Amino acid sequence: MKKSFPKEVYLNGAWSAHDKAFVSVFDRGYLLGDGIYEVIPVYEGKPFAVGGHLERFQNGLKTVGIDFDVEELKPLILEAIGRSGLQNSDAAIYIQVTRGVAPRTHFFPEDVQPGVLLYAYPITLKGFEEKKASVIVTEDRRWHRCDIKSISLMANVLANNEAHKRGVAENLLARDGYVTEGSHTSVFFVKDGVLYTHPEDHHILPGVTRKVVISLCQELSLTVSEQALHVNDITSMDEIFLTGTTVQVTAVTSATMGDKEVYTAAEAGPLTRRLQKAFVERVAAETGLT
Ligand code: PDD
Repeated sequence: MKKSFPKEVYLNGAWSAHDKAFVSVFDRGYLLGDGIYEVIPVYEGKPFAVGGHLERFQNGLKTVGIDFDVEELKPLILEAIGRSGLQNSDAAIYIQVTRGVAPRTHFFPEDVQPGVLLYAYPITLKGFEEKKASVIVTEDRRWHRCDIKSISLMANVLANNEAHKRGVAENLLARDGYVTEGSHTSVFFVKDGVLYTHPEDHHILPGVTRKVVISLCQELSLTVSEQALHVNDITSMDEIFLTGTTVQVTAVTSATMGDKEVYTAAEAGPLTRRLQKAFVERVAAETGLT
């Protein structure tokens, strides 16, 4: 689906058309990338895993010292869906909270009001099981606090643009030779019936979808080892899949490192398929959709 601007956005207390919403050039999000963001999926008008997303959001804000209570976002999420006419559509909610407007300093300014932006936009969530992702392995050049969902995404942007130029959807980022995650997704590997994913530490984002998938593995009695995989072992994997709010659970069918394709699969493997089915069922159960 081609990206377009949302119909309306909520900015600092008011709703307006996307081209009528303005922030100060002294907003620290604009000047310094000083803010936190979140993306929440909406299935046929019903938000999914809101609790997990808002908890991560609140944790991130607290970690960087932005005083904002995410509780006030709950009614705005539903309002955004309604105002954008997405009550029966698949969509995503984008939210960001910046430290606010102040003369530029590297240290925290005093007495600033956080800047809040929130909007809903349509995305395609249905049919993710049939999608296949090709990836390239690139260096993870991000900072050492990837657990914070910072709006400063320069390293992610540079990495993913490399993938885009090569005609593929995502990167497998490698730090010191070990795969951390994607530029905007989490990654799982399957070998001999065991699932491997990077441990939850400061080198990955604690993905909400990743957490859902790990809990589905527990339900299905599948073993998950939170252990980082060396790039040289990608070639011997049985299955690889990405997880995330937008990709949900998407099979990787090709991975290229340098000029060499190190992994290929014709289609999603059996464990990926089982988890995709379980994921659809979990969404249906939680959102009340059947
Ligand atoms: N990206 N890792 C990174 C670096 C991410 O940016 C994301 C999400 C994920 C998956 O997390 P979750 O399952 O909570 O969506 C992992 C969002 C969707 C984005 O930047 O648009």
